[in-house]
Amino acid sequence: MSKVYVVYWSQTGNTAAMAEGVAKGIKDAGHEAEIVDCSSAPMDELKNANAFAMGCSAMGSEVLEESEMEPFVEEVEGFVSGKTVGLFGSYGWGDGEWMRDWVDRMKSAGAKVLNDEGVICQETPDDAALEECAALGKQLASV
Ligand SMILES: Cc1cc2nc3c(=O)[nH]c(=O)nc-3n(C[C@H](O)[C@H](O)[C@H](O)COP(=O)(O)O)c2cc1C
Repeated sequence: MSKVYVVYWSQTGNTAAMAEGVAKGIKDAGHEAEIVDCSSAPMDELKNANAFAMGCSAMGSEVLEESEMEPFVEEVEGFVSGKTVGLFGSYGWGDGEWMRDWVDRMKSAGAKVLNDEGVICQETPDDAALEECAALGKQLASV
């Protein structure tokens, strides 16, 4: 049973709740899941992993949070080639541009992005959004 990491940044808890949903899907698929804040991401473990999840809400003007998540993602870009990632995050008033840009960045870095898109939801995830997160977790567990 391999452990699947779910690394996230969240300001008010919306993306954190999505991370819980992803972890539930991983566990339901019989794998161990560990949710970690991006400021304490286990980089060595991620470098050795085949697959992991990353979550971040839309911040700034359709960008990732800049002080913690952006530096983390820049580091990930350096070793993510050939790995599978699942992306997720909450937004407010936009149309998901931050997530589309993030997907493109990960693909440009050589990663396989599950479903070619991230799981996004507006503000607090409802039951349907949490189900989508769990489905993403199940996909990650089967990589
Ligand atoms: C400083 C700031 C910038 C934001 N920028 C965007 C944005 O560019 N596009 C958007 O759709 N929502 C934006 N939002 C809304 C958040 O993405 C939204 O409230 C989200 O649910 C927060 O999730 P979290 O609790 O996981 O951080 C912004 C919120 C804040 C506080």
